[in-house]
Amino acid sequence: MIQIHTAKDIQNLMKNYRKEGKTIGFVPTMGFLHEGHMSLVEKARKDNDIVVMSIFVNPMQFGPGEDYEAYPRDIERDRQLAADGGVDVLFTPEPEEMYGQEPTVTASVKKRTAVLCGRSREGHFDGVATVLTKLFNLTSPTRVYFGMKDAQQVAVVDGLINDFFMDIELIPVETKREEDGLAKSSRNVNLRAEERQEAPALYQALQRGAELIRAGERDPEAVKREVRSILGKTSGVIDYAEIYSYPDLEMREPLTGKVIIAVAVQFSKARLIDNIIVDIPADQKEDL
Ligand code: PAF
Repeated sequence: MIQIHTAKDIQNLMKNYRKEGKTIGFVPTMGFLHEGHMSLVEKARKDNDIVVMSIFVNPMQFGPGEDYEAYPRDIERDRQLAADGGVDVLFTPEPEEMYGQEPTVTASVKKRTAVLCGRSREGHFDGVATVLTKLFNLTSPTRVYFGMKDAQQVAVVDGLINDFFMDIELIPVETKREEDGLAKSSRNVNLRAEERQEAPALYQALQRGAELIRAGERDPEAVKREVRSILGKTSGVIDYAEIYSYPDLEMREPLTGKVIIAVAVQFSKARLIDNIIVDIPADQKEDL
């Protein structure tokens, strides 16, 4: 595995791979790798000649008072995991390399951000779209891999790629879970022991919501009430428990088509998110 720190070096290397006709699978991350990330690498490995991973905790996507400083980092461990997982090129720039000068242009995401994490994290997706535009330009990927745990991020990346005619295939990958259903996340290490016990309630609440929809419930408020009542049994504070169309993230009442139930719960030192997608067939209301 080659490790690269500078924009110029990665861009040159990737240009050479593309000239040689190689396909490039890109897995952007903020590090502290877990099985969720490694499942993206595994998929990228199967689909492409070259697998590139970036590890960059992007300051632009953290708001004031968010956990930029506390975000877990362990580059030695990450390097080992990436190499063992079959990453060919690891890109680990410093913030100065990515944001050296006062920016002339940054991305501004217009849709799919006024709800869910975008609502409570102002500017977050502008930061994500800005850094991804830079990373895509540096790595020239054929395909990019994102976990569905951040379904809103996947929806925004879908918009970014389509609106800017980027010649990149977006590959969403299913959320990896612990045995008790908790979605794997770098932030799980910041849960207290008793919070870790409660955290599977997020997935239980989502499953219950999906079950109601599958049983024929089409009133989003009724589904949300049930989801909230399960989340309300934890010591965390519910940030949101919502249902929208996917990937447009718009309100639909009654529920139709592809919908996402998404939740976020703030525990003492970790904010957890999770979601489930339910496809409601057009002419079949009772049973999926
Ligand atoms: O999902 C993440 O880890 C980040 O938002 C990403 C896509 C690497 C951009 O910084």
